[in-house]
Amino acid sequence: MENIRATNQLDAICIDSDKTTNFAKDAPRITKYSLADSADGSNGGMDYHIEIINKDDKLKVLKFLRRFFFRDEPLNQSIQLIPEGEDSTCMELEDYCSHSSLENNLSLMAVSASGAIVGVLLSGKMDPPSNEEPEYIQSCKNAKFKKILRLLHHIDKGVNINGQYRDFNVLEVRIISVDTNWRGKGVGKTLIEKSMEIAKEQGFHYIRADCTSFFSCKLCARLGFDAIYNLNYNDYVDEDGKPIFSPASPHTAVVAYIKKLST
Ligand SMILES: CC(C)(COP(=O)(O)OP(=O)(O)OC[C@H]1O[C@@H](n2cnc3c(N)ncnc32)[C@H](O)[C@@H]1OP(=O)(O)O)[C@@H](O)C(=O)NCCC(=O)NCCS
Repeated sequence: MENIRATNQLDAICIDSDKTTNFAKDAPRITKYSLADSADGSNGGMDYHIEIINKDDKLKVLKFLRRFFFRDEPLNQSIQLIPEGEDSTCMELEDYCSHSSLENNLSLMAVSASGAIVGVLLSGKMDPPSNEEPEYIQSCKNAKFKKILRLLHHIDKGVNINGQYRDFNVLEVRIISVDTNWRGKGVGKTLIEKSMEIAKEQGFHYIRADCTSFFSCKLCARLGFDAIYNLNYNDYVDEDGKPIFSPASPHTAVVAYIKKLST
């Protein structure tokens, strides 16, 4: 029931243009959104705006991701990257988030009217494709996280098999996560739309997202991305033929989506 209600709200997002600031080159970009979700015009305190993440936001962004993404992204959940009930973290995933994406002025957070982070999208310029397993994967000491890095590299090889993106600047959406209480209301969609806008301004040719979740797949398909590589979780197996990842339903496949950014 909740899902249906939330889906209906998607088209009801309106951009409050009076509160939209012009994007100055070095200033954080802020656009305000309202979820006009009730007949009487009240929105249950579900206003939010989008900001570019800067280095001062690093700790609170990581805190948000530890609470949601580290536990509930389908691959992380499937292998119990953070074991249930444990108040721990995965330092390798924290490094993955921090190194490439938290200080590049390309990553975004959705912030509620009360100042809480309700969504995060980390992105960065895609590395050139390589058939060799990169050193950071080989040397990863966390066996669980290494499995995830290997899968992502496997997908990248599949995407680049014909080398068709080799000479282009591709913005890679590395992480997208929305607070469970705010899901299905278009926050994820807004984060990707904003990311597309920034990528275009910054001269990227393409934006790509390797979607491990049924919902992120829906999101990219709805935004006109093309599915360029699809791997069913059941077909990605170990030496004994057993699937390495078995995420909970409805997540059945990881799909690489890409969209050309017209200039
Ligand atoms: C994937 C994720 C970021 C989407 O964020 P979101 O704010 O809920 O996304 P949106 O509200 O824009 O919805 C995206 C689509 O998924 C659907 N959807 C989202 N949550 C849903 C739910 N619980 N049940 C049914 N549909 C749902 C929406 O209806 C929409 O589909 P539509 O465009 O066909 O209507 C969010 O589900 C999440 O944080 N998941 C856990 C982390 C994760 O899996 N990240 C992605 C890894 S690639």
